[in-house]
Amino acid sequence: MARQDPRSRQMLLQPTRFALQVGDRVALTGPSGSGKSVFLRALALLDPLSGGQIAWHGQAVDRASITRYRRNVAYIQQRPAILDGTVEDNLRYPFSLQIYRDVRFDRARAASLAAQAGRGADFLDKRASELSGGEAQIAALIRVLQLAPEVLLLDEPTASLDPESSHAIEGLVDAWFHAGLAHASTHASVWVSHDPAQAKRMSERHLTMHAGVLSESSTSPLCPPQSDNPEPAR
Ligand SMILES: Nc1ncnc2c1ncn2[C@@H]1O[C@H](COP(=O)(O)OP(=O)(O)O)[C@@H](O)[C@H]1O
Ligand SMILES: [Mg+2]
Repeated sequence: MARQDPRSRQMLLQPTRFALQVGDRVALTGPSGSGKSVFLRALALLDPLSGGQIAWHGQAVDRASITRYRRNVAYIQQRPAILDGTVEDNLRYPFSLQIYRDVRFDRARAASLAAQAGRGADFLDKRASELSGGEAQIAALIRVLQLAPEVLLLDEPTASLDPESSHAIEGLVDAWFHAGLAHASTHASVWVSHDPAQAKRMSERHLTMHAGVLSESSTSPLCPPQSDNPEPAR
């Protein structure tokens, strides 16, 4: 796949082959403006590709299957769009969309996700406008997780959050991932991070982006080769 700016013709993402396997936890790092968000948004089919295609379980995603793809592959942005009303109103919102007409909002499940993130029973009743940045991101992540996606594409979800909220976000993603393993389902994630320690915690595959060129390191550059480094190279 590749992506070009339709106006300037500049290549934002150079032709890239990338496969996410079941169980993969990928971290993506790279300088600001290098194309990390362009890549994630292209993977999520939020922006049109200018070349190549995306396949889901070996099948090219076409018009007929894009709805299913969008349900399975969730993109979480750094600054989530939060609607007016309560947290619960926000969590109910996706169920009003055509693509989720076959599922119903489950308050107990939403409350249990909130509890996992260390939020009290009153979290669902909070006014969205009164949430801190961290709480807004937690609400946005719960909004996605309750829909049981198979793939999470996380675009610097904890950048500029307080450590406690970042920890809660990591915990929610960990729990989602392990629940996937328990049900032999197909969970996998790509997490864009500025924080090498977080990238290391949340992944075992590491990608880097430089000027629209994606590369994968066979040995993790997150643990630079040092004679006293006890970790084996992978
Ligand atoms: N929709 C778009 N149209 C044109 N240029 C874009 C678009 N989205 C991003 N860009 C440009 O592509 C480059 C990479 O952006 P981005 O993926 O947001 O970087 P980052 O690695 O910080 O996430 C930047 O130069 C940005 O200005
Ligand atoms: Mg970005």
